[in-house]
Amino acid sequence: MSEPLVLGIETSCDETGVGLVRGTTLLADEVASSVDEHVRFGGVVPEIASRAHLEAIIPTLERACAKAGVTLRDVDAVAVTAFPGLAGALLVGVASAKALALTLGKPLYGVSHLSSHVAVDRLVHGELPEPAIAMLVSGGHSSILRVDDITAEVVTLGATIDDAAGEAFDKVARVLGLPFPGGPWIDRVAREGDATYVDFPRGLTATRDQADHRFDVSFSGLKTAVARWIKAREASGEPVPVANVAASFQEAVVDVLTAKAVAACREENISHLILGGGVAANSRLRVMAQERCAAAGIQLRVPPARLCTDNGAMVASMGAALVARGRPASDFGLSIRPT
Ligand code: KG4
Ligand code: ZN
Repeated sequence: MSEPLVLGIETSCDETGVGLVRGTTLLADEVASSVDEHVRFGGVVPEIASRAHLEAIIPTLERACAKAGVTLRDVDAVAVTAFPGLAGALLVGVASAKALALTLGKPLYGVSHLSSHVAVDRLVHGELPEPAIAMLVSGGHSSILRVDDITAEVVTLGATIDDAAGEAFDKVARVLGLPFPGGPWIDRVAREGDATYVDFPRGLTATRDQADHRFDVSFSGLKTAVARWIKAREASGEPVPVANVAASFQEAVVDVLTAKAVAACREENISHLILGGGVAANSRLRVMAQERCAAAGIQLRVPPARLCTDNGAMVASMGAALVARGRPASDFGLSIRPT
């Protein structure tokens, strides 16, 4: 008998994602993004995101079924992001998942968006190595996690104490005059730049921070340093070397993230590191993580860029892991836990 077919729904931010997964096999991953509707505001507007999810959910579901060559009646379980995220956005996904599970007579699994970012790697490299350290870096979160069992509670070893990594990319891109979302733009522009041009600060890496913030990160000081540097350059009347500033900023972020992730592996005595979240699409982060992991004897797993950003496949993969381990389904009273 083939493994159960799990439908995953993700609506925590500005992407409406529907994925279909059987075991560790990805059958469909359809995403509708409302990012273009947020561009002129320079950030995600929750009300606009919720409305866009409502409009996109059924067409995205239909596209996913067509792509996988299945009908909704073939689905064995429905998984949905229940936390964390924007309240109105999460509600659209959870209400849709409940309606589907109830009408199909199938179990409902409310899952964590963060665990799902880790679980997506099952679809690329097979079942997760456990224990593993996971570093999740996106527009909404930056966390270093210890994962002993992805279907149970994961332990947060460190997190950002101010901006998320992606937020820092987006804000710095804005001061550099690059479009929103800024991460992919900084990545692209930085390829032509000199990463040693400005020695920007590496937050929470000083000796005094090791006791209280061993695996925490901070990007607000870096962001301010970049803004100040640009202002001073503009005041001098000289043009801002966008590529060099972008590359120097990116180097500072990636240096801190990879150093902390490798340190977490060493101190927890764990030899597997998994990267996830939108910022894990960053080309410099991928290269530096690979180099530092190789030097430290750590096996690195990074999903392809399109699975690092928000999608439904990651939620379906998380659901499939819960089903495979025989974890109990959620109650139909499942409520969202917004941020
Ligand atoms: O995981 P994600 O799609 O959504 C959230 O849960 O936040 O991450 C989106 C974030 C944005 O801040 C975006 O600028 C950033 O990921 N991002 C990148 C790259 N691609 C996306 N940051 C740096 N380099 C990239 N190539
Ligand atoms: Zn995310």
